[in-house]
Amino acid sequence: MPLPPTLASQSSDITPLATSEDSPCFGDIFDAGLKVLNASCPFQKASLTLSGVDAYLEGRLGLPSSLPLSKEEVLARIPVKPARPTHPRAPSLPSSVPAGPPMSGKKKGIVASIHGIAHAESWAIDLMWDLLLRFAYDVQAAEPSFWDDFLRIVREEAEHFLSWTRRLEEGYGIRYGTLPVHDALWECAEASKDDVMARFSLINLLQEARGLDTSEITLQRLLRAGDSVSAETLQKNAKEEEGHVAAGIKWFCYVKDKRLLQGSCESNFHRYVKERYRGRIAPPFNVEARRRAGMCEAWYFPLVTPSKEGGKGGGNESR
Ligand SMILES: [Fe+2]
Ligand SMILES: [Fe+2]
Repeated sequence: MPLPPTLASQSSDITPLATSEDSPCFGDIFDAGLKVLNASCPFQKASLTLSGVDAYLEGRLGLPSSLPLSKEEVLARIPVKPARPTHPRAPSLPSSVPAGPPMSGKKKGIVASIHGIAHAESWAIDLMWDLLLRFAYDVQAAEPSFWDDFLRIVREEAEHFLSWTRRLEEGYGIRYGTLPVHDALWECAEASKDDVMARFSLINLLQEARGLDTSEITLQRLLRAGDSVSAETLQKNAKEEEGHVAAGIKWFCYVKDKRLLQGSCESNFHRYVKERYRGRIAPPFNVEARRRAGMCEAWYFPLVTPSKEGGKGGGNESR
């Protein structure tokens, strides 16, 4: 779809939301999330997310006043898988953006990294909305601030997506969607669709924490390549991602206590990962960023698996 005027503008900040007059019509914040999950265009997902969350924050949109009574009724409303572009190489894109110019191999590597991050951020929008809506019944009744935490997070994911797609266009003349992408992040959502603690484990505590590790590696590449603008964007977004991991820990431990589960939060997390995650967990870790997010080594060191060759590096989480 064409970018709405507010998103097409090339300002350095994410443009504030449209006014209520031209905002999409949502029944409540649950309905806003459903519209995001059912939208196939990644730019529309971001735009709807900003509109819905800001309307909520400004008091123009409320929490769902009539959540269905049963968990089954809630789940029946949520798409099995979020709508995505029909062709992964060609999501709807602003027509004004030119195809990319020829570039060196080193530059191509930077573009591929930024494109990959933008793609992960587009999936993050879907993942956070799916988490909110799918598990609202489990958590919301006991603790409404669950909504506040994850609405803040999903808004940040939308801003991250837009910041990276804008950077691709402004810095490199490249459209998001012109490079190959994968849907591996959804595999973790699929493997955790029945249990909110599993979802916190695989998405917030595993994939988002892995994002903290890879951000540091990408940052060094960007600085070596002299792309200080992208480096600045990455540092800002990575700081916010620490808050996403922290929220995952907070709510994982909250639900664990509510369920009166035995053992530590860390040991319960280890159990979920071993039961539901097939990838390797390996260094390098961004220990400092993980610590700032409240994730000390006890959370992830016991999960480290050596490679078949006996090496230590190369964790293969997909974000
Ligand atoms: Fe993000
Ligand atoms: Fe995140």
